[in-house]
Amino acid sequence: MDNIILIGFMGCGKTSVGERLAKQCQFVFADTDALIEAKEKCTIKDIFAVQGEAYFRQAEEDMLKSLLTTLDHAVLSTGGGMPIREANQALLKKLGMVVYLRTTKETIIHRVKSDTTRPLLAGDDLEYKVDTLLTKRAPIYEACADVIVDTDGLDFEQVIDKILVAHRK
Ligand code: S3P
Repeated sequence: MDNIILIGFMGCGKTSVGERLAKQCQFVFADTDALIEAKEKCTIKDIFAVQGEAYFRQAEEDMLKSLLTTLDHAVLSTGGGMPIREANQALLKKLGMVVYLRTTKETIIHRVKSDTTRPLLAGDDLEYKVDTLLTKRAPIYEACADVIVDTDGLDFEQVIDKILVAHRK
């Protein structure tokens, strides 16, 4: 399976980079959050509010399993919590080359501060929430990745170039 899988914290640029990268290498672009929303006919925000986070996490794992038999020549952007479930780590690796878009806490806070669609960052004390979650997740993203790209200070083209160099190897 020749796929490029993008992982990383909310706001790290998985979707923006993924869409451009897919165009450039003539791959299909897919996004697990968008696929889950289409399947459930419901926004992520409402899935969290109505069914709860555990339901969403199961939907994420189920989505990865279904992609195992269908995804090829694709760039897949994943929700920021996808690699946290252990079962998903093996599934992501099976799907393709896993790229962690690593971003500093400051950049993330700047990008997500006026966002209202991410339930885990809703409400007060955004800085504390990002800090706590990122500290917990960073080692997991790193362990799950085949390639790590530090994106701070890079434009989309520079990030994409780094991914393409790794993909060619
Ligand atoms: C989540 C990240 C979101 C989305 C959901 C949960 C997380 O995706 O899957 O709100 O746990 O980090 P993005 O990383 O695309 O924002």
